[in-house]
Amino acid sequence: MTKTRGATPPTSLAIRGRLLSFEGDPAVEGPSVVRFWEDGTLVVANGLIEAIGESGDMLAGRAKGLPLADHRPHLVMAGFVDPHLHMPQTQVIASFGTELMEWLQRYTFPEESRYGDPAVAAAGSRFLLDELLRNGTTSAAVYCTSHPQSVDAFFGEAERRGLRMVAGKVMMDRGAPEALLDTPQRGYEESKALIARWHGRGRLSYAITPRFAPTSTEAQLEATAALAAEFPDLHVQTHLSENEGEIAFVREAFPWSKDYTEVYERYGLVREKALFGHCIHLSDRERTALAAGGASAIFCPTSNLFLGSGLFDLEASRAAGIKTGIATDIGGGTSYSMLRTAAEGYKVLALKGEKLPPLQAFHMMTAGNAAAMGLGDKIGRLSPGYEADIVVLDSEATPAQRRRMERVETLGEELFCLMTMGDDRSIVATYAGGRLLHERDKAPFHPLEAKQDAPPPPSSSQGGEAGQ
Ligand code: GUN
Ligand code: FE
Repeated sequence: MTKTRGATPPTSLAIRGRLLSFEGDPAVEGPSVVRFWEDGTLVVANGLIEAIGESGDMLAGRAKGLPLADHRPHLVMAGFVDPHLHMPQTQVIASFGTELMEWLQRYTFPEESRYGDPAVAAAGSRFLLDELLRNGTTSAAVYCTSHPQSVDAFFGEAERRGLRMVAGKVMMDRGAPEALLDTPQRGYEESKALIARWHGRGRLSYAITPRFAPTSTEAQLEATAALAAEFPDLHVQTHLSENEGEIAFVREAFPWSKDYTEVYERYGLVREKALFGHCIHLSDRERTALAAGGASAIFCPTSNLFLGSGLFDLEASRAAGIKTGIATDIGGGTSYSMLRTAAEGYKVLALKGEKLPPLQAFHMMTAGNAAAMGLGDKIGRLSPGYEADIVVLDSEATPAQRRRMERVETLGEELFCLMTMGDDRSIVATYAGGRLLHERDKAPFHPLEAKQDAPPPPSSSQGGEAGQ
């Protein structure tokens, strides 16, 4: 029996299954970028993927003698990447009956006001990360609240799990309850202190996070511009053109601006590694500006449907040359699952007369989202040198899926059924940094708490040594 779960995981490990990865974007480069091993094995060493290939070759070679996690017949992919979600909104999901601006005032801002309490922020962060791992998501771009302690709590929990995470303190100095407002100076200083404390620590990166133009004065956006200029390599994350009421507000609040995107351009925020959530109601000029700046548009289908925001245009985004990702937007979004998110994305695009083929969808959830986050050289692929963030997927997790799979003949059909019918029940196991952090039907496990907790017993599905 091989122990792959625990405080001191083996420094080297072999993982066997049906391996799928993307060396490029199949929407652009075609099917030749898809790598699939019907029986493949990869070797993880010191948190990185060291080698990958056919099991016959690997088990006689690089993987020989290593502890082996045999996940056949399940699919093994790079862990999912979620490029837009809100840590303090786990108890906002499923709030009834409003569009964006009223939803923020009635439900979201009162809830976020609780996150000045470090205990609330720690509990919310812990829940969120356990739930992401249960859904096969290993990296995310995360909005905390305006309270710096919410960022400390989130990064602390991410660090304990060894996750690659991008997060930031929301800056907002108007249009919300007093408990959530900072000032231009405070937003700047608190962000800068958090950058010094967390950015580049292990696998953590800080994102400069003005919530969106309606909740920042011009003075705050100027302070944000100064911060962004001081830290040109950092992520920026904000919201853009989600809802008609929001756009009307921006038009009134920034009368000098010809459109919403120009507000962010004015303050130097349209740039590489800038993640713009939603991007639904954009003009051609705005799309051209986002592409020229090297920014990314993030499609949030469950949120856009739930809040009645509108239908994202993936073809227009791609045609303009914008890096495009797909995200949950918890808690305007209604599911933590990237599979559910892709399923709803498919339906949104169907309403636009567009298609999201399964290989493109799984590329977006992994390497595509990693590239949209500027992390395409670190995560999102099963390739040597990449970080060993890995998800194991069961295409037959439910009776309905087993029934449907009886009629499936190709990998593409299997993947389409998996994204259309799958959810957290499809996630057999999740590894991050080479550590097994989630196994289906087992309690969450936090490696750095293991000194207090006895490590759980190894799973019976983990078997033996490679090459035997
Ligand atoms: N725009 C500004 N803040 C938010 C938020 O929390 N969720 C969504 N969906 N849109 C926003
Ligand atoms: Fe959002």
